[in-house]
Amino acid sequence: PVADRVADLLGRMTLPEKVGQMLQLNAKEGVRHLVEDLHAGSILHASPERVLEAAALTERTRLRIPLLVAEDCIHGHSFWEGATIYPTQLGMAATWDAGLVERIARATAVEVAATGVHWTFSPVLCVTRDLRWGRVSETFGEDPYLIGELASAMVRGYQGDGLDDPTAILACAKHFAGYSETQGGRDASEADISRRKLRSWFLPPFERVAREGCRTFMLGYQSMDGVPITVNDWLLGEVLRGEWGYTGTLVTDWDNVGRMVWEQKIYADYAQASAAAVRAGNDMVMTTSKFFEGAQDAVAEGLLTEAEIDAAVRRVLTLKFELGLFENPRHPDPARQAAFIGGSAHAKLNLEAARRSLVLLANDGTLPLAGGLEEAGEGLRPTGPGPRTVAVIGPNADDAQTQLGDWAGSSGQADWLPDGQPRAMIRTVLDGFREKVPADWTVSYAPGARILSVGPDPEGEFFPDGQPRPEVVVPAAPDPETVAEAVAAAEAADYVVAVVGDRIELIGEGKSTATLELVGDQVALLDALAATGRPLVVVVISSKPLVLPPSALGAAAIVYAANPGMLGGTAVAELLLGLIEPTGRLPLSFARHAGQQPTYYNQVRGQHGSRYADLTQSPAFAFGEGLSYTTVTYTDLELLTAVVEPTETVRARVTLTNTGARPALETLQVYVSDTVTSVTWAEKELKAYEQVALAPGESRRIPVELPVSACTLVDAQGRRVVEPGRFELLVGPSSREEALLRREFTVKG
Ligand code: IFM
Repeated sequence: PVADRVADLLGRMTLPEKVGQMLQLNAKEGVRHLVEDLHAGSILHASPERVLEAAALTERTRLRIPLLVAEDCIHGHSFWEGATIYPTQLGMAATWDAGLVERIARATAVEVAATGVHWTFSPVLCVTRDLRWGRVSETFGEDPYLIGELASAMVRGYQGDGLDDPTAILACAKHFAGYSETQGGRDASEADISRRKLRSWFLPPFERVAREGCRTFMLGYQSMDGVPITVNDWLLGEVLRGEWGYTGTLVTDWDNVGRMVWEQKIYADYAQASAAAVRAGNDMVMTTSKFFEGAQDAVAEGLLTEAEIDAAVRRVLTLKFELGLFENPRHPDPARQAAFIGGSAHAKLNLEAARRSLVLLANDGTLPLAGGLEEAGEGLRPTGPGPRTVAVIGPNADDAQTQLGDWAGSSGQADWLPDGQPRAMIRTVLDGFREKVPADWTVSYAPGARILSVGPDPEGEFFPDGQPRPEVVVPAAPDPETVAEAVAAAEAADYVVAVVGDRIELIGEGKSTATLELVGDQVALLDALAATGRPLVVVVISSKPLVLPPSALGAAAIVYAANPGMLGGTAVAELLLGLIEPTGRLPLSFARHAGQQPTYYNQVRGQHGSRYADLTQSPAFAFGEGLSYTTVTYTDLELLTAVVEPTETVRARVTLTNTGARPALETLQVYVSDTVTSVTWAEKELKAYEQVALAPGESRRIPVELPVSACTLVDAQGRRVVEPGRFELLVGPSSREEALLRREFTVKG
């Protein structure tokens, strides 16, 4: 049994060897030092050459304990040239399809495992709050229920049928917990969050994956109520390991232990910081090499016992035995890489994901651009209404790396990759149009605006570690000539497709933005394009919902594409031309103004309606929204049981009718509203959803079920309870009040 093997090995280890097993170090620091001097148990950000070098060195160590190789494979293998890069988590969330997300994670695991990586730092379970945060694209959006559904699917996909399957990789639920509750959207700021609030919105997705067997958790950087998460005994000990019975492994985030000394200034030295981190239950310490001395000093000084270190090492070794690394270290495997990485089966899945991730936000009937379709070879081709010209315009129409988004080898996280993924594997919107338009159509192109330029830092700022920052990315200065060129292309076209958004430099960790407006010359570009009077379709490729100017909001159609992955441009062209149906739904709300933060739909009831005096309160586009090329009506919501026990399920039925001429994949959403609550609570919360396929003209009666056990709140004592009384069942196509049918039911006391 694994426990016996772990005990035997542990019994033969010296203290330095044990402390080393708790270290996960950056392979860029040179693997010889990490393996031979620090006895590292794990490495991250390692090129295949470094993985093999480290493995060979490990073979020559006294106990030959294999290394755990970890990597941020977030939406595909982030650090492998030619790997399949799928839509970001936010794009995946827009599909609302847990089965699809599970298949993506499985396919990712197959590619990742072939490269000698055993552990991915995914999925992210943070609940998006302030849209200015740089890491919104890494989340599944703003709703804890949807996050839980998709995250558990992703964990299942990564971990497969069991860790002994060589294509299984360890999943990692991160960042535990409350990391996204930023101040002003700034990354890793103190999270001003009460325990009750944490239990209400931030912990439920983590609890779900903990109970479902996610093998590792990563801790957030931030502190909560003054206590860094890394040493938060309540969260790690009482809640995670105590209440939820979690037996998996905990890894810190990047230098969390060091940061408590040099940044958060909680501890005077590394011995104290290391002792506190081990005591709180951390098993693996990411990139703090000083932990090696610190933990040993802590034992020598009596701050920590060796038994406490043993408990952590036991969990690390258990993972290694369960993965079977002692028998099969799962090194990079060129044969499997050639067979699976970037292969056609994964490209097919990727295109499916990109198609499903697109959200049609507005359409005055201009879309689809090409009405007629004909069978051609492998699929449909548009026949179109005769020769037409499409002007594809905008800075994101042909920006491959921004289309992929963060964690795609393009943000400097890996020093062995060239600049991102091979262009030949990527289809931008421009490529998509060139490939997909009817044979007698013309596609013209103009970038139209620049978003950013790189220049000297005007304020000569320094990073906290004292490193000078000679260059910064600044909004591009207005360039009337570039806009004029685009206007000329628009005026000569029948349709204008403007592809705008943010840029790779504005996406990711430490890259929060102070504003949500379109940066650079983009607003001027959209204003000028709108003024041409040509039918304008706006496609937003951005890592988060941006504030759209009136010229975009008034456009003939708007599509949100998040970062849609390698084949996102094909999917966008197909959607606009009507080769596929729009099926995506927003996993988070769009703000009307950068100051309208937060915008999420499930805020607690406030007084005075929590209103701004100078702004409509509702979001520009709400959670759950998304149009199709047909219309689906919801009628006759009928409650079968109006009075229920707390242990029962509310049953209802609703009729969905496709009243248009094209097929629909409708996302039926079920919310609940607790009408009177002992504590202030959200007006409504998503509790279930179902995707219903409807042929043109088809009408179906759909059963709706809502277990009363899901109608909980967290009371003033921090307990999750059902409070008997009146509730409302809300059913409809989005979270917008006016979109929902409602029926009242009573939960008996
Ligand atoms: O996994 C990431 C985490 O999300 C942010 N900090 C760095 C880690 C390792 O790259």
